Amino acid sequence: MKILVINGPNLNLTGRRQPEIYGSRTMDDIIASLRDAFTGVTIDYFQSNCEGAIIDRLHEAGFGEYDGIVLNAGAYTHTSLAIADAIAAIETPVVEIHLSNIAAREEIRHRSLIAPVCCGTIAGFGELSYRLAVEAIMNF
Ligand code: DQA
Repeated sequence: MKILVINGPNLNLTGRRQPEIYGSRTMDDIIASLRDAFTGVTIDYFQSNCEGAIIDRLHEAGFGEYDGIVLNAGAYTHTSLAIADAIAAIETPVVEIHLSNIAAREEIRHRSLIAPVCCGTIAGFGELSYRLAVEAIMNF
């Protein structure tokens, strides 16, 4: 089984950025723990602060190489019709995830443009959100 984790803008600062919201562990820590937790799964990781780069990676990954994609699109979740279109265009199932509970935050974060084209959403469990998404893909 092969899974791609894609993180969007500002998630490279996880661990330093607003730790009271996003936790104090870095993405390196989180991805290392994820790989340790699922030793039988190949977990590739990609992060970009650029909308187009995320779309390019979805296009590259979305036709057969992966069993599933775990996507934390960061703030693009709430703004990017282009990322939503890319998810709709590819064949690989995409699980939307968030570290924080976006439904409990500012109103602008309540709407996800990508939710309708993802197979499900996991939010609010901190780094556990990534693990739950991998488990979801393993159970497809
Ligand atoms: C986030 C939630 C988004 O609203 C925010 O813009 C992020 C991170 C999360 O993981 O909780 O950058 O996707």
